[in-house]
Amino acid sequence: MRILVTGGTGYIGSHTVLSLLEAGHEVLVVDNLVNSSEESLRRVVELAGKAAAFHHVDLVDAGALESVFDQHSIDAVIHFAGLKAVGESVEEPLNYYYNNVGGTLNLLRAMDKYGVRSIVFSSSATVYGEHNPIPYVEKMEIGANNPYGRTKEQIEDVLTDLGAADERWHIALLRYFNPVGAHPSGRIGEDPQGIPNNLVPYIAQVAVGRREKLMVFGGDYDTPDGTCLRDYIHVVDLAEGHVAALDYVAVRPGVHRWNLGSGKGTSVLEMLHAFEQAVGHALPYEITGRRAGDLPAFWADASSALADLSWSTTKTVDQMCEDHWRWQKNNPLGYSS
Ligand code: NAD
Ligand code: WQD
Repeated sequence: MRILVTGGTGYIGSHTVLSLLEAGHEVLVVDNLVNSSEESLRRVVELAGKAAAFHHVDLVDAGALESVFDQHSIDAVIHFAGLKAVGESVEEPLNYYYNNVGGTLNLLRAMDKYGVRSIVFSSSATVYGEHNPIPYVEKMEIGANNPYGRTKEQIEDVLTDLGAADERWHIALLRYFNPVGAHPSGRIGEDPQGIPNNLVPYIAQVAVGRREKLMVFGGDYDTPDGTCLRDYIHVVDLAEGHVAALDYVAVRPGVHRWNLGSGKGTSVLEMLHAFEQAVGHALPYEITGRRAGDLPAFWADASSALADLSWSTTKTVDQMCEDHWRWQKNNPLGYSS
């Protein structure tokens, strides 16, 4: 198939483009480079030994987006493009709704106009909100507790309504848990701009000497070691999950929802210690106050993806840390190294 990947130069997008090329698909990337660089795609092409077209286009520019559909015959879309920082979304909600929801509406209208009605969408575990019991199951009521999460919820609603209104649509809503790690080559990985918001990129920057120490946000949660539990998933497993979801929806219309997670929780300190193993020495950290909005623990019920897609995670927390560290060590300043 010829797949349009929005946000394909970003962290998860770049790994998925590589998996798609390896699986024999043709790929076309659209990205406005607001949080990524074209260097990631150059490296993906090098790793795959296959070409992929790139269009520097912002999804909020409906005309520019349509011209991409005009130039290429596209079979399906994997839609990663979006802003993703929870704290920033609280401060700039308008920007988040405009970019994430507005950009998606332009994309869906262009797809409809050109008769491309298969889409795999990057949703998030954050849509489960704060009131659901763990593990999270796809059939639970959703309700995010921050603007970023609500953009994901609103896009899920739009896609659900679209699938109900028009049976020609083939839709996958993928709710990712906590993606970490990097391709084992160490050539592509996560390249956060500024101070990392997320745990593993922060630890990696401590390990490479760019940050002084890890602040562990809260050591007094009701968990085995007092720190929060999350369901970390290796980005390569996540990328493979997209290829599996795409193959599934290609031949099955309707709206399908899957959690992509490992089904188990790992604490902040366990993650830190696994990273220390990868690096080969201890890393400085301090336990500080809780971060507003953090839940003590959540993880996926990952059984639907296994049953429907024959997909499950294959990589351990140790592999996530080893691969993340290889990427960070080889590229201390990310793609601008
Ligand atoms: P990322 O920032 O690395 O990738 C997103 C890409 O989208 C970037 O390359 C960015 O330049 C591009 N982009 C943003 N707005 C755009 C627009 N208007 N037009 C064109 N391109 C645009 O983030 P990621 O971690 O790879 O996340 C990919 C997707 O997965 C996002 O939708 C994110 O919300 C979702 N997600 C991420 C996580 C996570 O923890 N990384 C978890 C759950 C869901
Ligand atoms: C994990 C744990 C922190 C940084 C976020 C988004 C979510 C999804 C994934 C997109 C928590 C602790 C972190 C640090 C720390 N993204 N931590 N020190 O919050 O589970 O999820 O990313 O959809 O929507 O909210 O991930 O990596 O930020 O935090 O102690 O410097 O690490 O408190 O317990 P989170 P995270």
